[in-house]
Amino acid sequence: MAKRLLKILALWTFVIGIVQCCPELCHCQNKFARQFADCAYKDLLVVPVGLPSNVTTVSLSANKINFLKSESFINITQVTSLWLAHNEIITIETDTLAPLNQLRNLDISYNKIVNFPWEDLANLTALQLLKMNNNEMVNLPMDAFSTLKDLRSLRINNNKFTTIVQGTFSALSSLSHLKIFDNPFACSCSLEWLRDWIAATNVSVPELTSIVCDTPENLNGTMVTNVPKLDCEAPAVTVTSQPNIDESDLYEGVMVILNCVTKGSPMPQVSWEVTVGNQNYMFPLPSTGEMNDKPINDKTTSDRFLVFRNGSLIIRRLSEKENGNYSCTAVNDLGKAESGVKVVLTVSPETSSSTPGFSPPAESITLSLLTIFISSGIIHLSLGDMESTWIS
Ligand SMILES: *[C@@H]1O[C@H](CO)[C@@H](O)[C@H](O)[C@H]1NC(C)=O
Ligand SMILES: *[C@@H]1O[C@H](CO)[C@@H](O)[C@H](O)[C@H]1NC(C)=O
Ligand SMILES: *[C@@H]1O[C@H](CO)[C@@H](O)[C@H](O)[C@H]1NC(C)=O
Ligand SMILES: *[C@@H]1O[C@H](CO)[C@@H](O)[C@H](O)[C@H]1NC(C)=O
Ligand SMILES: *[C@@H]1O[C@H](CO)[C@@H](O)[C@H](O)[C@H]1NC(C)=O
Ligand SMILES: *[C@@H]1O[C@H](CO)[C@@H](O)[C@H](O)[C@H]1NC(C)=O
Ligand SMILES: *[C@@H]1O[C@H](CO)[C@@H](O)[C@H](O)[C@H]1NC(C)=O
Repeated sequence: MAKRLLKILALWTFVIGIVQCCPELCHCQNKFARQFADCAYKDLLVVPVGLPSNVTTVSLSANKINFLKSESFINITQVTSLWLAHNEIITIETDTLAPLNQLRNLDISYNKIVNFPWEDLANLTALQLLKMNNNEMVNLPMDAFSTLKDLRSLRINNNKFTTIVQGTFSALSSLSHLKIFDNPFACSCSLEWLRDWIAATNVSVPELTSIVCDTPENLNGTMVTNVPKLDCEAPAVTVTSQPNIDESDLYEGVMVILNCVTKGSPMPQVSWEVTVGNQNYMFPLPSTGEMNDKPINDKTTSDRFLVFRNGSLIIRRLSEKENGNYSCTAVNDLGKAESGVKVVLTVSPETSSSTPGFSPPAESITLSLLTIFISSGIIHLSLGDMESTWIS
């Protein structure tokens, strides 16, 4: 009788156990006041629902999960260790990981992640171990790890990172192990800091012989720590004009030549930007190919402007429609520089009175027509975030 009751009781708790405590294919266990959920090697396609709310360690390793949906971990915020290695994850939705602010160990290595929701990491301030190696990640934002003060070990090796912005590791005050090897590094001026940082840091950075340049071609295969001192110079731009726009009046029909002269190493990418009326034109100059007499712009603009590879922009016949800003920009690894002129047609007294609808303020009639605006200034930028961090 007692035996039978015990049996029923056992069955009852077993059923409860399944229903309330553990997803079907997982094995849940209470040990040393910690709650484990082991769901590894189960061919799971998604994160199972119904994990115990007080679970602290969840293993989902070696399944076939290819997508992490944003609410997947919403009920298990006590988790301190989350193992997701060897799945087929391509995408992790934003906010999937952010609720796990107790997380100390996160392993998402050996997946196919291209875009990681870096903003989620900012919430994971308790992280000590972060394994992201063997994925397909390309971009590493400069502030990716900026809140991870307790992080001791970071693995981002075997990804597709071409660069690491200076300062990326500087907030990691507890870091002792860093794996970055087997990434296709572009050994340009913006990566030069890494050579010096590896040499000076106390962080252990293993497998130096696999931390090598992929580009430029002449450095392909060279260890980052052996990259020679590069010739790096921030860009500079000067715009000159014929006739000299400071000193001459510019009358209707005149041809104006604007020359953009740039400096910098590596050779900067140069472009003209023209803002006339409410139109805006961009003319990027090709950085390769022969200098020649052919304009680079096509028929849609060439009746008004001619832009040449050598940096000259010609306003063919000045009219009121060509009044506007002509700005030349040079960008390389070290930053961006810009310089421009404002072109304003000089209005002669007769034309002004005979042009209906155009009544400039009295003094601008006699005033010299061209005002220069120069917003030079070289700004050092973090690579990969060039447009957004440039301040003029
Ligand atoms: C977690 O919850 C289960 C069932 O509610 C309970 O048996 C267990 O003691 C709890 N574990 C911890 C570590 O609090
Ligand atoms: C979270 O808990 C709610 C309420 O118990 C439940 O409806 C939901 O399915 C759970 N979500 C997950 C992903 O486990
Ligand atoms: C980030 O963590 C804080 C608590 O530290 C929490 O209030 C917030 O909801 C978390 N963010 C998300 C998106 O879960
Ligand atoms: C490395 O450690 C030594 C000794 O502990 C210390 O003097 C030095 O400043 C450290 N270097 C860096 C880059 O943290
Ligand atoms: C660099 O060299 C390796 C082999 O030495 C080659 O597979 C790779 O394609 C090269 N990369 C570039 C950008 O040339
Ligand atoms: C650039 O090339 C154009 C076309 O050949 C020429 O008219 C112009 O004078 C050149 N500019 C300079 C600064 O040499
Ligand atoms: C030209 O540049 C000046 C100074 O930057 C600016 O105030 C003005 O609005 C610009 N004009 C046009 C047409 O873009």
